[in-house]
Amino acid sequence: MKVLKSILAATAVSGMLATSAFSNEALIKEGEKIFNNKNLGNCLACHGANGKGIESPGSMGPKLTGLAYYPDEYLYDVIYNPNKKNPISQMPAFGKNGWLSDSQIKAVVAYLKTIQ
Ligand code: HEC
Repeated sequence: MKVLKSILAATAVSGMLATSAFSNEALIKEGEKIFNNKNLGNCLACHGANGKGIESPGSMGPKLTGLAYYPDEYLYDVIYNPNKKNPISQMPAFGKNGWLSDSQIKAVVAYLKTIQ
């Protein structure tokens, strides 16, 4: 029960962070660029993100929609190193591999939360 309470508290705090990230248009735009850029995130190669009219061939990863209520930290961790959560993940560890910087991952997280 104590654990559940602290999870709820953490979720509430990151919900507040999400609200402030939402007001940051520049960060979201930057994240969108990284997400779509073949030489940076290339997330579309595996994730068929719908919404915003993105046509994607990607089908290896799940559709990245409805992430608005996910804690920022969870999304950051998955992008930084998906193997932490799933040891046999087929998604590359963008942060751990040094492909995306801390601020680039934060921008992608801000963008992910805007995909409907
Ligand atoms: C090589 C394919 C591949 C690429 C490239 C890739 N992913 Fe993934 N991703 C996956 C797979 C497969 C999963 C399913 C869970 C797992 O295997 O870990 C996943 C899971 C996720 C999740 C968790 C979704 C959930 O509901 O828990 C997020 C968030 C995510 N990816 C974001 C990204 C972002 C952002 C990028 C680009 C920086 C990216 N992925 C690039 C394959 C990929």
